[in-house]
Amino acid sequence: MFFQRELLFFMQPRTLFSQSISSLSSMTDLRISFALLAGLAKHPKIEYYIHYSSIMFSYEWKRRKGSEKQKMKTEAIPVLKIGKHQPHYPIVQGGMGVMVSGPKLAGAVAAAGGIGTIATVAVAISSPKFTKKQPIATQNSDAIRECIGQARKTAGDGVIAVNCMCALTDYEDQVRTACEAGADIIVSGAGLPLKLPEMTRNYPDVALVPIVSSVKAAHLIISRWKKTYDRFPDAFVVETPNKAGGHLGARDAEQALDPVLSLETVVPELVSYLREADIDIPVIAAGGIWNSEDMKKMFALGAKGVQMGTRFAATEEGDASERFKQAYVDATEDDVVLIQSPCGLPGRALVTPLVERYIKDKVATVSCWANCLSHCRLRKERETFCIADALIAAYNGDWENGLFFCGSNVGRVKAVQKVQEIIEELVEQWQKVPAFA
Ligand SMILES: Cc1cc2nc3c(=O)[nH]c(=O)nc-3n(C[C@H](O)[C@H](O)[C@H](O)COP(=O)(O)O)c2cc1C
Repeated sequence: MFFQRELLFFMQPRTLFSQSISSLSSMTDLRISFALLAGLAKHPKIEYYIHYSSIMFSYEWKRRKGSEKQKMKTEAIPVLKIGKHQPHYPIVQGGMGVMVSGPKLAGAVAAAGGIGTIATVAVAISSPKFTKKQPIATQNSDAIRECIGQARKTAGDGVIAVNCMCALTDYEDQVRTACEAGADIIVSGAGLPLKLPEMTRNYPDVALVPIVSSVKAAHLIISRWKKTYDRFPDAFVVETPNKAGGHLGARDAEQALDPVLSLETVVPELVSYLREADIDIPVIAAGGIWNSEDMKKMFALGAKGVQMGTRFAATEEGDASERFKQAYVDATEDDVVLIQSPCGLPGRALVTPLVERYIKDKVATVSCWANCLSHCRLRKERETFCIADALIAAYNGDWENGLFFCGSNVGRVKAVQKVQEIIEELVEQWQKVPAFA
């Protein structure tokens, strides 16, 4: 009896307390109320409730702090899901050859919560067994396996992608080897990856991501894949030739700078094309992305992720030489040019002595040893430089003979940063930058 009466006596005010505490609408309300109660605590009649209310407050405080944090986490950065793979952050480090993004960079980005991408082009040069006496294509497989294994050790269960360019002579071999070696995602550009599903059919968990610069290219891939393989890509990277580094998805320099191929045009076009076709796959924006403001702009246009190359190339974990990274740090935007590469595509790069000689039509004639590209003007016409030699020279830091690919924002690289620092900065900034309508 006594117990019941006691219970009733205490329950009513307690319920009142609980209800009023949880009905306080903000953390500020909670703080003010706590201060008021602390003052009232001296009153003998409510002394008993102080103990109870302090427990309630501390519980409510923790609950609200927790849910605020949770809210920040989920609101902070949207989720990017590519097939079965979901990185912590929707940030993709773009594949960069030759060996600018190898196992160290890709592993570090994946470990930091982004998607780390190994570029397979001429990856054999990272092996101690590498020799110029054999075509590079015959030496890549072992190196791809080693690189993926090495990246995985750093990445743990982070997401590792492998970038295989369609224009390479050993493209199919590279794709199969990467799948066998445990790649989570295959990213393919520099041509249309029309047969990619066939090459990867024994690896259903490997997500397939074509790189395109226009809706027309995306449409061609979708139609062919649907008709021939009854499947869709798991995502598209839209890479704008207006700003991106490396080989560009355009006919020539003029088309590369055409605003029709800007992210602001192509991303929303592709997003609405996919929506109308009822295809629910993410679009990832690449080219000229530097900070959270750029990211938010792309998300407002319908992108679900961003891909960044240049900013990650000059990191401590970047696989290229220190001289390569220093060239980025020293560069201004005036040092960037578009050249027509030996593979027939335009490319964005720093003006090195090699590039100057090339522009003045004064490169020494060499013969092809690498046999790396299916279509190469060096092999056909002999009046250009060897792209393999030039990219390997850049990787090694040979300023005189190197082709230092870079994006148009290379002038913004002021120092060699750590990957973790960049990702943290992007995530932190995200909370501060207002959303774009
Ligand atoms: C040095 C360098 C090498 C690159 N190599 C490749 C490559 O091998 N394959 C590829 O698909 N894209 C390549 N890219 C493009 C990047 O993956 C990325 O999409 C692009 O750089 C994004 O633009 P941003 O540099 O302005 O961030 C390269 C870019 C750079 C800067």
